Amino acid sequence: MSQTSRLPGLYKQPVEERLATVATASDLTDEEQAVLRGAMGLQTDTADHMIENVVGIHSLPLGVATNFLVNGRDVLVPMAIEEPSVVAGASFAARLARAGGGFHTSSTPSHMIGQMQVLDVPNPHVARFELMEQKERLLELANQSDPLIIKLGGGARDIEVRVIDESPAGPMLVVHLIYDTLDAMGANTVNTAAEALTPSVEEITGGRVLLRILSNLADRRLARARCLVPASALTFESDGRTFEGREVVGRIVEAYAFAAADPYRATTHNKGIMNGVDAVVIATGNDWRAIEAGAHAYAARNGSYIPLSQWERTPDGDLVGTLEMPMAVGIVGGATRVHPLPKVALKIMGVQTARELAEIIVAVGLAQNLAAVRALATEGIQRGHMSLHARQVAIAAGATGDEIESVAAQLVKERTIRLDRAQEILSQRVSESTSQ
Ligand code: MEV
Repeated sequence: MSQTSRLPGLYKQPVEERLATVATASDLTDEEQAVLRGAMGLQTDTADHMIENVVGIHSLPLGVATNFLVNGRDVLVPMAIEEPSVVAGASFAARLARAGGGFHTSSTPSHMIGQMQVLDVPNPHVARFELMEQKERLLELANQSDPLIIKLGGGARDIEVRVIDESPAGPMLVVHLIYDTLDAMGANTVNTAAEALTPSVEEITGGRVLLRILSNLADRRLARARCLVPASALTFESDGRTFEGREVVGRIVEAYAFAAADPYRATTHNKGIMNGVDAVVIATGNDWRAIEAGAHAYAARNGSYIPLSQWERTPDGDLVGTLEMPMAVGIVGGATRVHPLPKVALKIMGVQTARELAEIIVAVGLAQNLAAVRALATEGIQRGHMSLHARQVAIAAGATGDEIESVAAQLVKERTIRLDRAQEILSQRVSESTSQ
């Protein structure tokens, strides 16, 4: 992307104008713009090769979040999501973080874990040692299954073995194959490599290998983002009341403390993070179930379910936030290759590696969390949600074209965002227009 991601007023533009702005910023071709419009998006003949029994295409709105500065680089973020307020929230919070220098990110290499379950092992602890002694041979064997990834510098990195003394099926050995999948999510590569080890693992352990499958607790493939928000950037007015920045910092830290102390709140706190994370994961054609599973398991890794992010106050009274989570996303293979939209989404972001994508996603998760917690800890979530929610209710009630905005405005004015009221307003308008 050649320009800034600060695009004030983008949200006010009509869709075509907005698309033109993003196309200019990200140098999109006519064809890529047609993909975004849906005209050249996923078609049923391609879809038919992706899953089974295809009868149609399911689509979602694709928005672009603005204001993101990640490691000094301006990034426009495509987000596919049905929920109102998420794109606006991410953009708003990215602007707050921008006032403190944007997001700083890092990540581990793309190390995935392939698991092998070994049953009926005569001497599990001895077998564990024997497997470790044969580590180099096993790694070499694992590397024979995908010569391309080895050529690119990826491949098997380590073997770890655990003895589980007690399980409903008795003792078992668990072998972890640690594999660097580079720019791929890597599920197929890792599963194939784990399957290739079966005869050797059975021969070494004298046991029986049952499951061979990647673990979605991708805690060797973590991405991290942090940001600082100057207290001054958090000052705002709502309904005639001024929220002073330093006070807002205190409220956000207290709100985080609630999540840190209570799993009921931590779950919702993390859901807010996943609003941002999933929207980018979906836009880029990645497996959001894998990301969800990994995120929540990581949040519970110490035995109790805790928030994935942390919010603290600096000695100067500013706000700092951090988020670390598993992020097994790819930019090659899977749907990223066959679905036309993810390619355009990756181009809008200008990412070159899976790690870069993972880091941006975590930055978006942190921004989303900040937007939610700031609103919750000050004016409440409903105020910002109301007008967007009202639009959806108006559409659900049958409003079309200009009616959508005007019915939504009336719902907000009346502070009654309900389907029955929207239907009433619409039918009143119909009877008024027919009686004229
Ligand atoms: C709603 O989709 C997300 C929030 O509930 C997140 C949170 O409570 O932190 C607003």
